[in-house]
Amino acid sequence: MKLFVDTGQVEEVQQAAQWGILDGVTTNPSLIAQSGRGFKETVQAMCEILPEGAISAEVVSATESEMLREAYEIATWAPNIVIKVPMTKAGIPVTSRLTSEGIRVNMTLVFSVSQALLAAKAGATFISVFVGRVDDISNDGMNTIEEVVGMVDTYGFDSEVLVASIRHPMHVVESIRLGAHIATMPFKIMQQMFAHPLSDIGLERFTEDWRKAGLSIF
Ligand code: E4P
Repeated sequence: MKLFVDTGQVEEVQQAAQWGILDGVTTNPSLIAQSGRGFKETVQAMCEILPEGAISAEVVSATESEMLREAYEIATWAPNIVIKVPMTKAGIPVTSRLTSEGIRVNMTLVFSVSQALLAAKAGATFISVFVGRVDDISNDGMNTIEEVVGMVDTYGFDSEVLVASIRHPMHVVESIRLGAHIATMPFKIMQQMFAHPLSDIGLERFTEDWRKAGLSIF
């Protein structure tokens, strides 16, 4: 399973990349707006930090022609960029066109298996299915992940199911259980994944026993 960090902060990408476990980055217009830096410089910095990773950068227009114009521009910024395209009637032909030209697309704002089918048929490399925003309105976002993973497997699509809008580590645990290909999460949640009290207690005990015995490795 691939782990992506969902952020507009270059420093967070740097830290997660340094752990050696990071496969990619997702950004969105809100995260970039909060970053306090320019879109191009932020995305290019992320691409340089993680040259083998997939860095998603989103178009912001609504029409097919404008989305394509933006996508072609963004695609020139670095070779490892994936164009994020929203799930709309205009977004589907944009996705078909870009993928047929070898430009990878992350179809975003997907909330149902029928939308996911369209994204898969259009050739999206990643299908970003949002879970937290569904939980926020008293529904179970993970149900859609189960349906979409099943749909992709049943029909043998190449698209990877990307669990987005993750709010807590249990969303990651459920994504693993359901066989999702990718989870993208805020940096804070990635940090939470390290935590287990028994790891801390266990390490304290080992260290103390070793110290008491007066042993040494060298
Ligand atoms: C994914 O690519 C999106 O940027 C992100 O996961 C949205 O998360 P949010 O619902 O917490 O804004």
